[in-house]
Amino acid sequence: MELPPRPKLFDFHGVSMIHYFTDNWENIQNFQARPDDILIATYPKAGTTWVSYILDLLYFGQTAPERQASLPIYERVPFLESDFHILPPGTELADKLSTSPRLIKTHLPVQLVPKSFWEQNCRIVYMARNAKDNAVSYFHFDRMNQAHPEPGDWNNFLQRFMDGKMVFGSWYDHVTGWWERKQTHSKLHYLFYEDMVEDTGRELDRLCSFLGLSPSAEEKERVRGGAQFDTMKKNSMANYSTVPIMDFKISPFMRKGKVGDWKNHFTVAQSEQFDEDYKKKMKNTTLQFRTVV
Ligand code: PPS
Repeated sequence: MELPPRPKLFDFHGVSMIHYFTDNWENIQNFQARPDDILIATYPKAGTTWVSYILDLLYFGQTAPERQASLPIYERVPFLESDFHILPPGTELADKLSTSPRLIKTHLPVQLVPKSFWEQNCRIVYMARNAKDNAVSYFHFDRMNQAHPEPGDWNNFLQRFMDGKMVFGSWYDHVTGWWERKQTHSKLHYLFYEDMVEDTGRELDRLCSFLGLSPSAEEKERVRGGAQFDTMKKNSMANYSTVPIMDFKISPFMRKGKVGDWKNHFTVAQSEQFDEDYKKKMKNTTLQFRTVV
C-alpha cells in the first residue's frame, strides 16, 4: 500500500496540530455526547490503550467477549477527533457504536473538548504520564507512525517537546489544563501511568469506585491479567498490529511499557536542562509526577 506523505504541524486555536485531527472539526465540535458516555482523555503516549482496554474489559469482557476477539481496540473505543481516511472518522464510529456505555478516546486538550461532554456531565478518565517517559515514548511513536510528522533526531525532538511543538500541543499545558478542570468537574478521574505500573490492582479498585462498578475479585483479576503489558503486546486486537501506517520494524506500538526508560535516552546534560525548564513551566500547579517507581 502506498503511504501518504507525512503531515505538517500547524497552529490550530493555539495548539500544534495535523490535519488528520482537524479535517472533521465541525462534526467533532458538534458531536452529541450521551450522559452515560465515558471519555478517555490523554496526552498521546500516556497509556490510552491500556486504560481503554481495561474499561472495555470491565464493561464488556463478560457480556460480549466476542468483541475482544474480533474488533481492534480502536474500533471498540473510537478516537473522536481522528479522520485517517483509511477508517471512518472517529465521530462516525462513535455514532455507530451500539454499546452502552460508549467508550470514546480523545487526545484533545481540555479547552477543545466538544461542549456536549460537559453539558451531559459525562464521566471522564484522564491518564497522565511523567514528561520524560512520555517524551521518549512519543519519539519512538513518531519514528514508526507515518501519520505523524518526522521526529528528527532525539535532541531536536526533545527541544520540540519542551517548546510544545508536538501533535496535540504542549504536554505541560495538557496535563495541567486537565488537572485544573478536575477541580470543577467532579466526574473526572485523574490517573497516573506510574501508579498503574506500581499497583494495577489498587488503581483498578479506585477506577471501579469512580465508575460505580463492583466486579467480583475473580472478575477483577481477569481484567488485571488481560491488561498486563506482555498479554496486550501479544494480542493483535490490542497491539495496533492491524494498522498499515505503523511500521513495527522501526518500533512496536507496545514498546517497553515501563517507568524510567527515559534514563536510557536522556544524557545528563539533557536531563538537567529539561528539569530546569520543567520547574519554570510547572511552577504554578499542584500537579506532581514521579519519574521512577
Ligand atoms: S496512543 O498512540 O497515544 O494511543 O498511545 P498510548 O496507548 O497512550 O501509549 C502507548 C504507551 O503505553 C504503553 N502501554 C502499556 N504500558 C504498561 N502496561 C500496559 N498494559 C500498556 N499498554 C500500553 C506502550 O507500551 C507505550 O509506552 P512505551 O513507553 O512506548 O512502551
